[in-house]
Amino acid sequence: MAVQERANFGSKLGVILASAGSAVGLGNIWRFPCEVGENGGAAFILVYLICVVFLGVPVMVSEFLIGRHSRSNTATAYKILAPGTPWHFVGLMGVFSGFLILSYYIVVCGWTLEYAWTAASNGFSQVGDAMDYTAFFNNFVSNPWKPLLYLAVFMLITHYIVVRGVKEGIEKFSKVMMPMLLLIIGVLVVCSFSMPGSVKGLTFLLKPDFGKIDTGVVLSAMGQAFFSLSLGMGCLCTYASYFTKEVNLMKTAGSVVVIDTLVAVMSGFIIFPAVFSVPGLIPNAGPGLVFITLPNVFNIAFGNYPFLGYVFSVMFYVLLILSALTSTISMHEVATAYIHEKFKMTRAKGAFVVTSVCLSFGVLCSLSFGVLSDMTIAGFTLFDFFDYVSAKFLMPLGGMLISIFTGWYLDRKMVWEEITNEGRLRVPMFKFYIFLLKYVAPLAIGAIFVHELIKA
Ligand code: TRP
Repeated sequence: MAVQERANFGSKLGVILASAGSAVGLGNIWRFPCEVGENGGAAFILVYLICVVFLGVPVMVSEFLIGRHSRSNTATAYKILAPGTPWHFVGLMGVFSGFLILSYYIVVCGWTLEYAWTAASNGFSQVGDAMDYTAFFNNFVSNPWKPLLYLAVFMLITHYIVVRGVKEGIEKFSKVMMPMLLLIIGVLVVCSFSMPGSVKGLTFLLKPDFGKIDTGVVLSAMGQAFFSLSLGMGCLCTYASYFTKEVNLMKTAGSVVVIDTLVAVMSGFIIFPAVFSVPGLIPNAGPGLVFITLPNVFNIAFGNYPFLGYVFSVMFYVLLILSALTSTISMHEVATAYIHEKFKMTRAKGAFVVTSVCLSFGVLCSLSFGVLSDMTIAGFTLFDFFDYVSAKFLMPLGGMLISIFTGWYLDRKMVWEEITNEGRLRVPMFKFYIFLLKYVAPLAIGAIFVHELIKA
């Protein structure tokens, strides 16, 4: 097994930033507001936060310890920890999910490139009012070739960084990007609060209507939690295989969860005050919501200072691209590490396989907004189908199996040693952590699955 000579992340901060870089991405800034809008606002956010704390944190720590202990790609990790058992299918399922998610995620990444380009060339100033932004978005995504071009560019950049390797490529990058992203998001929240409909937007985000919660909403919130935290498919497990023995797993998970949740909630606070301020915008606009709303934010909030609006919008879209990039890199890395180590190919060849497959499926997903919009599976377009299967099925299932694996299968002493770094760290919540993994996570996820099945 080619696991001896693995690269490591260079510093503790690097570890947190690389993991946070994977977690923070379009899931926070694009998918979260979209799900909040479609699932009724504050009530959804509440369920989401509960899922993050009681499912997200324990599953993240589990992925970390599985990865670091086995020091290998996610499929091999299970073979090392549970030799001769079917557990490695959890890892294989993760690699498979990685292909699936990356294939449709990259489509939205392409959109960010177009928006950055349009902002930089001052193209939005000619667009005008809200309806025009809607038309602009719809025209763009249904265009037969433009989104494909952007998608391919994004995929190739990801490919290049993954081939250059873990430390050089990923770590340096996240160090600069994360703080800048948080800063500019903060500025935009302030801008959005100053808009005329901000009170309505805040009510939508903060005043829960508990009548709106059903298992569909809970499944969406749970799926979003796993998606946003990059959980359930071996992504953080693969990253953790590059952690040193000094890293405090619980603390790292805590930091990543806090940063990720902060960015998601703040994105909500940027989008919804604006949605309720501009006639023609609706909260449940689906995947286009953020892309249609954002240009309005820049337009209205900086109405009297067009130059500032220009500067901020370009900066924002560039940061959006970078945060999406740190996420695509992490998904790509799961499959690349697997192919590289399993089939003894070079990293470059492994990465090439991943890039080619995802590019092909990505093209199909992208075309499902235009030419292929009539091609549906179970009533979903291809894009929506990929999204549904990964976020609402594979990731929660992966999370459930990882919980069972850590809670019931793994040797308790080994788990304790990984979490406390051989007894050097004090971890007061250890028993509670095991309790969540043994009972809460499997039963909660299982119950929601069963309920959704019965409903269907
Ligand atoms: N979490 C990232 C986001 O919010 C997306 C992502 C990266 C991801 N790696 C993942 C999602 C692994 C699921 C699994 O944008």
